[in-house]
Amino acid sequence: MKTHTTIQSLQSTIDSWRSQGQRIAFVPTMGGLHDGHLSLVDFAKQKADKIVVSVFVNPTQFGKNEDFDQYPNKLEQDIALLEQHQIDGLYSPSVEQIYPQGLDSDIKVSEVGDILCGASRPGHFDGVVQVVHRLFEIVKPSIAIFGQKDYQQLLLITQMATQYFPEIELLSQPTIREQDGLAMSTRNQYLSIDERKIVPRLYQVLLQAKQDYLDNALVEVLTNRAKNTLSEDFKVDYFEALDANTLKQITDNTSKIAILCSVYLGSTRLIDNIIFNKG
Ligand code: PAF
Repeated sequence: MKTHTTIQSLQSTIDSWRSQGQRIAFVPTMGGLHDGHLSLVDFAKQKADKIVVSVFVNPTQFGKNEDFDQYPNKLEQDIALLEQHQIDGLYSPSVEQIYPQGLDSDIKVSEVGDILCGASRPGHFDGVVQVVHRLFEIVKPSIAIFGQKDYQQLLLITQMATQYFPEIELLSQPTIREQDGLAMSTRNQYLSIDERKIVPRLYQVLLQAKQDYLDNALVEVLTNRAKNTLSEDFKVDYFEALDANTLKQITDNTSKIAILCSVYLGSTRLIDNIIFNKG
């Protein structure tokens, strides 16, 4: 596995693979890799000949008072993990490589970027879509793979890719969980030992809400019940049951449901979701 820090070095390697007819799968990350990321890498290996992973902590997707400066930087550990998983190329660029013209962006996400996480983190999804657009421009993969844990992000990246990169096949993979149900996330490292014992309750509440939905509870009833339960341990940011394809209200035409939530425990913000067929 070679680590590339410049566009030139990465592209000359990728171009030589492409000229040999090899398909390239791309897994963008911000590092701090865990089994969730590695499951995307392993999935990528089933789908393509060469696997490229990027590790880039993207400044434009962090708000002013967010954790950009504290975000775990574990490049050596990430490299060791990616070597174990036998990827072909790691792209670990500087901010200047990604944004040579500065951090401003012309790409604006649709109104789906203003709700849920977008309401609490204004501009966050503009930054996510900006960096993924730039990374796609550089890597030009055949396939790109994202996790479903960041479900709203997945939808917005899919919208952007459909418009600007229709030739790239976007694939997603389910959330990977710890044994007690906690969704894997780089930010779980911020949790104290006591907080770590509490956080699995989030997934239990999601499972209960899904069961309530399947038992024909009204959306308003099941989300209020979930918020009440969660507020015993967390500060609830949002808890919503929506149409999974549009992130709008569930209608008779809805085929897939997304129950999505975000909570704070101390200063740590956690998100999770469950996606299932309406049945
Ligand atoms: O999900 C992430 O890790 C990031 O938002 C992404 C997609 C790599 C863009 O920085």
